[in-house]
Amino acid sequence: MIRNLITGGAGFIGSHLAEHLLDNGEEVLVWDNLSTGRMSNLQRCVGRPGFRYIISDFTEDPSFPRMAEQVDVIFHLAAAVGVQLIVNDPVRTLETNILGTEVALRAAAKYGKRIFVASTSEVYGKGTRIPFSEDDDVLYGPTTKRRWNYAISKAVDEFLLLAYAESHGLPGVVGRLFNTVGPRQVPHYGMVIPRFIEQARTGAEMTVYGDGTQRRCFGHVRDVVPAIHKLVHCDDAIGHVVNLGSNQEITILELAIKIRDRLQSDSEIRFVPYEIAYRPGFEDMERRVPDLTKAERLIAYRPSRTLDIALDDILADGAAAPGAVMGNSR
Ligand SMILES: NC(=O)c1ccc[n+]([C@@H]2O[C@H](COP(=O)([O-])OP(=O)(O)OC[C@H]3O[C@@H](n4cnc5c(N)ncnc54)[C@H](O)[C@@H]3O)[C@@H](O)[C@H]2O)c1
Repeated sequence: MIRNLITGGAGFIGSHLAEHLLDNGEEVLVWDNLSTGRMSNLQRCVGRPGFRYIISDFTEDPSFPRMAEQVDVIFHLAAAVGVQLIVNDPVRTLETNILGTEVALRAAAKYGKRIFVASTSEVYGKGTRIPFSEDDDVLYGPTTKRRWNYAISKAVDEFLLLAYAESHGLPGVVGRLFNTVGPRQVPHYGMVIPRFIEQARTGAEMTVYGDGTQRRCFGHVRDVVPAIHKLVHCDDAIGHVVNLGSNQEITILELAIKIRDRLQSDSEIRFVPYEIAYRPGFEDMERRVPDLTKAERLIAYRPSRTLDIALDDILADGAAAPGAVMGNSR
């Protein structure tokens, strides 16, 4: 039976991955400090045979390497995520993302374990050549703009994995995830769909940052998670970076209207300049579309669930839990 360790397993994507692996008859050890994750995300896992969890910061827990030795595969998903969190707490972003990946990779390399590291489409920075392909050049703003530290910390994670793969023969792969959505994503850290749902549900103004013409692609977590699972076991993917997500675009204003219509809400749409939503000088990208050719070639990845299906699933699950709305058009 394959034994898996998921850092960040009580988070949005990690909890879906845990369920997917259990459904596949595998064992799962979730490691999470509940900084942005929640135990309630694991309610369909706790008590199932082969499922265990540890609540602590794995970067500081001396038992982490020993536990990593006992599994076959490591999925490293723990990170500081969400534009709002990143802008508000840049030290945490850099430390969690870079140190965490270093700790996970060191343990994987020491014991020769397969490892998947979650990266992000933010790594493409200000790139404008659409669609984004894994080998494209990247361009960032200055280091004085906090906005870029998530992108750069994840780019460092990618360099680390590629270096370990090349120098230590580590069987590892990077998944560059584009916006991933589905049940259990919360609005607190700047995720746009749960925020719009909460605003529409409560009749609050739906705040669209910028002019709303920026476009995004939203991949269903139930398409992305099986792809993560396949990638880590794909020998040809080892030592590679692979885009995962959806390539179907929608503008943020269209998204707000779609959600308002779906909820038959009377909420008004209000445009908020980026410098008010975040900080003066905040920059956003107009478009982010993945080139999925590599994922299709390696693991026959072809996302099948539309944004409407994702919204159906989110609304059916009653997600977008009530709470503070901070938000972004991420
Ligand atoms: N959701 C997306 O749209 C998206 C897009 C691109 C990349 N990603 C990447 O996917 C991964 C998962 O993202 P998510 O959306 O599920 O976010 P999430 O915040 O729900 O999950 C991250 C989890 O990591 C945990 N964590 C953070 N630091 C930890 C530590 N030191 N020790 C133990 N646990 C720790 C958090 O408590 C949380 O449960 C992240 O690496 C993120 O950068 C997500």
